[in-house]
Amino acid sequence: QDRETGRLLQAYEWSEKFYHFLLKNTEHGRPALEYLRGRGIGDKLIDQFRIGFAPDRWDTLVQFLDKRSFDLAEMEKGGLISARQSGDGYVDRFRSRIIFPIANRSGKTIAFAGRILGEGHPKYVNSPESRLFNKSRVLYNFDQARSAIRKQRQVILFEGYGDVIAAWEAGVHNGVATMGTSLTEQHAAMIKTAADEVLVCYDGDNAGQNAALKSIPILEQAGLQVKIAMLPPGVDPDDYIRSHGKERFMRQVVEDAASTTKFRLANLRRNYKLSEESGRLDYAKAGLPVIAALSSPTEREVYLRELSSEVDISFESLKQDCNLIRQEQHRPAPGQEDPGPAYSGPQSGG
Ligand code: CTP
Ligand code: MN
Ligand code: MN
Ligand code: MN
Ligand code: MN
Repeated sequence: QDRETGRLLQAYEWSEKFYHFLLKNTEHGRPALEYLRGRGIGDKLIDQFRIGFAPDRWDTLVQFLDKRSFDLAEMEKGGLISARQSGDGYVDRFRSRIIFPIANRSGKTIAFAGRILGEGHPKYVNSPESRLFNKSRVLYNFDQARSAIRKQRQVILFEGYGDVIAAWEAGVHNGVATMGTSLTEQHAAMIKTAADEVLVCYDGDNAGQNAALKSIPILEQAGLQVKIAMLPPGVDPDDYIRSHGKERFMRQVVEDAASTTKFRLANLRRNYKLSEESGRLDYAKAGLPVIAALSSPTEREVYLRELSSEVDISFESLKQDCNLIRQEQHRPAPGQEDPGPAYSGPQSGG
């Protein structure tokens, strides 16, 4: 680790402690404390997640760093402060925002996320990428969750900071979140170092459900088992825990999580009117390829039976169509040689 990296880590650590102090011990922090309490985040969680507050001034952190002889140009390059728009000098990047420190896997702070108090745009401001911070490789709370993840061999993947924190309070200590970015292969590989299974627990809105759909192949390709939690429309895990309590969250969201197939089908179903015959037929046509792609005959049967009762078409007809689709799915692409059915000799690599 080079010297500049060391200095930047030091600066992030001190800044984190400074913001935490300002939240807890100064007049500036009071509205933020109230806001957090209103969201069910009290002293214990504030300490656990080292939450802080950046006051509504231009140069609180700039002054703090300057007094401690940090090189401000270096700090700007490291994403901690911003260059002034016009003229020389530096200004704070976070103003009047609640600060959520983001740690690397060894627990060292490498970035901040700042949330506005209440409504407003942008809701969150994040540190830019830097020599310390690459958001496609960092999962919020992975450092604190790691021991619970190893014990349970499972990760619960959330969308937001608030979800991770609310879940932690509810006793779920294996929760992590991406930071406003979609899940990457690197995230999945990181999870695979400690877990075998991922429970994707994204928001119940369209954005969340679409993001969950996209995450499935990425996680599966990393060799992880995937389950999807289904939340009511428009509700996120944090909202759910606050309005229904932790017991119900554990029972109805975590334990009742769906298989990826069930989730895909449920997701398709929303687009059709099952009260109309044409809607039922269209849903069956859309759902069959999902079922046909399953390699286990038992699993195909389970979902075909469910589909049959939903669309009011006989199991036998659906099964016949499903088999036709399987033949299509397994037909080699035009121009590709058929390798022949019985060949099982040594693979000729590459
Ligand atoms: N996000 C972001 N910038 C934004 C909005 C969202 O970086 N302007 C990221 C944050 O990491 C956020 C996540 O995307 O936690 C999920 O977004 P959203 O569901 O909108 O926010 P919540 O986490 O539910 O925020 P809150 O509960 O504080 O309103
Ligand atoms: Mn503390
Ligand atoms: Mn969301
Ligand atoms: Mn949300
Ligand atoms: Mn939320």
